[in-house]
Amino acid sequence: MLKMSDSIMSGSINEFKQGKSPLIMPQDESTPFCPWSDDFLLGIDRLDKQHDALFSTLNKLHDILMSHGSPVAIDKTLSCLIDQTRVHFQTEETFMQQHDYPDYEGHKTLHDILLRQIEGVLETQHELESYHLQQSWAEKLDLADFLREWLLSHIVDADKKLGDFLKKHGG
Ligand SMILES: [Fe+2]
Ligand SMILES: [Fe+2]
Repeated sequence: MLKMSDSIMSGSINEFKQGKSPLIMPQDESTPFCPWSDDFLLGIDRLDKQHDALFSTLNKLHDILMSHGSPVAIDKTLSCLIDQTRVHFQTEETFMQQHDYPDYEGHKTLHDILLRQIEGVLETQHELESYHLQQSWAEKLDLADFLREWLLSHIVDADKKLGDFLKKHGG
């Protein structure tokens, strides 16, 4: 049985500290939570469009959290984010396989770890709801911060390397 003291955040999500990222510019009220910038473009159209869509869904999730939206709305948007992420990772992994990308295993492992983490958060949320409990808003916002940090740092590092490789090899 789930204990109240169990943390909803696990592993690296728990260790994540807000505000450390050099990738996030200081924000004002009008700046989206996860602002898109051409710095994130890989030059591979399909992947760039998927990244842009992930940013939009993450911004939507953050807006719902900031307005203390209903658990149903949060659940729906988080599920959508997970589905989009799964499809996006599958697209990248197919490109990697088609072009014999040398770091396929390493890049796929990063994808698998992230998916396991966010699926675990959703599962825990469902378990809490079955006991008529809820995550704290701080924990929910920690998740959004973690996802933003992960997405930005993954794009500018692992995905950029993949994009450069694909452009060189006719991707
Ligand atoms: Fe990506
Ligand atoms: Fe990736």
